Amino acid sequence: MSPVRFLTGITTSGTPHLGNYVGSIRPSVRASQRADVESFYFLADYHALIKIDEPSRIQRSTLEIAASWLAAGLNPDKVTFYRQSDIPEIPELTWLLTCVTGKGLLNRAHAYKAAVDKNLAAGAQAETDINTGLFMYPVLMGADILMFNAHKVPVGRDQVQHLEMTRDMAASFNHRYPRQQGEHFVLPEVVIEESVATLPGLDGRKMSKSYDNTIALFADSAALKKLINGIKTDARAPGETKAVQGSALYQIYQAFASDDESAALRQAYADGISWADAKHILFERVDREIAPMRATYQALMADPAKVEAILRAGAAKARALSKPFMAQLRDAVGLRDLRSGTTMGAQAAKTAKTALASFKQYREKNGKFYVKLVDGQGKLLLLSAGFDRPKDAGNLVKTLQSGSADLTGLSLGDGVTPDQVQVALQSLQDAD
Ligand code: TRP
Repeated sequence: MSPVRFLTGITTSGTPHLGNYVGSIRPSVRASQRADVESFYFLADYHALIKIDEPSRIQRSTLEIAASWLAAGLNPDKVTFYRQSDIPEIPELTWLLTCVTGKGLLNRAHAYKAAVDKNLAAGAQAETDINTGLFMYPVLMGADILMFNAHKVPVGRDQVQHLEMTRDMAASFNHRYPRQQGEHFVLPEVVIEESVATLPGLDGRKMSKSYDNTIALFADSAALKKLINGIKTDARAPGETKAVQGSALYQIYQAFASDDESAALRQAYADGISWADAKHILFERVDREIAPMRATYQALMADPAKVEAILRAGAAKARALSKPFMAQLRDAVGLRDLRSGTTMGAQAAKTAKTALASFKQYREKNGKFYVKLVDGQGKLLLLSAGFDRPKDAGNLVKTLQSGSADLTGLSLGDGVTPDQVQVALQSLQDAD
């Protein structure tokens, strides 16, 4: 079984704050360290263009977010960490999905509807200042996810509808373009982290750039202290009992502290700690977690070439998947090499690579006879069990050459799908 694949995108439209860290960066980095998952994280810079028309801000935010994730411990060798705009197959897939997506579906998207409602409330025309990018947002997001056939997509609640739409698109495409074996797209599942609370901001509302109430993740110690001192509290004087309920300060503390530490602060509230002291305790606790990462962050910010190289290496890893998959999808819809004949489906992904596939028969030290199918680069596609007689191995080759789709008793090469084998077998037949 291949591991479960997680994928999530981060729009490059701002500077990471403590809310992003607690709600997204920290849990994602932790999840990515698990051995049983395969993680894809990407910087959604195409999405950022929908809202932001300041080129330097896009660039800066991309660097800041990449540096933040890396500083928080994301290991680019273990995960696939890339920039959306480095993967040309994503906009290409967006178009294929656009053509199977009902306009009515997109009309119902919350973000688009909210923009229309806002216009109407302001007495403007429904579509005033709404760009088509906003309207198409869910399709681009669908392409992000389906391009890599992610199983699980961790997102905030506001993104649940986008995942439903992605499943719709995947199902429509699968239905319209059936394959000989399996389906093109996995239907992804949304993952809402129930345990990660949304962090309140300086004013007690959800910490969010749009409320201008954030605490920058990598502010230096002095700036962090100042921001924390700006957290809204009530007017209770030192010595007066304070309530933890509704206290933004306490909630932020909880997101960083152990249960024991939180219990101690709760007690201090009851005992009448001053707000100044409580803020100092919060500052110390947050700074203790952030300070070690801050140094790495600053080093990366000072070395954009390093971050660029990491993202490019990530893109190369991602494209090793997106390129062949896109070839399959292009073929499925009929964007084909005219020389490949106009017959049925799977025959086409007949790249030079698969066309050169060949059988090898050999004898192992254990005395048994084996058959394997390798592609043009010598990569193992299919391996038989050991036969006692060479004749049986030869017969297997004949059966497979005759186009038998039955792969029982044969093992697939690493990461090879039955479909790839089918395509390779078919191309051998065509070459005959
Ligand atoms: N729309 C997401 C957000 O605003 C960002 C995003 C873009 C994304 N593409 C994605 C998230 C694909 C998950 C999967 O948070």
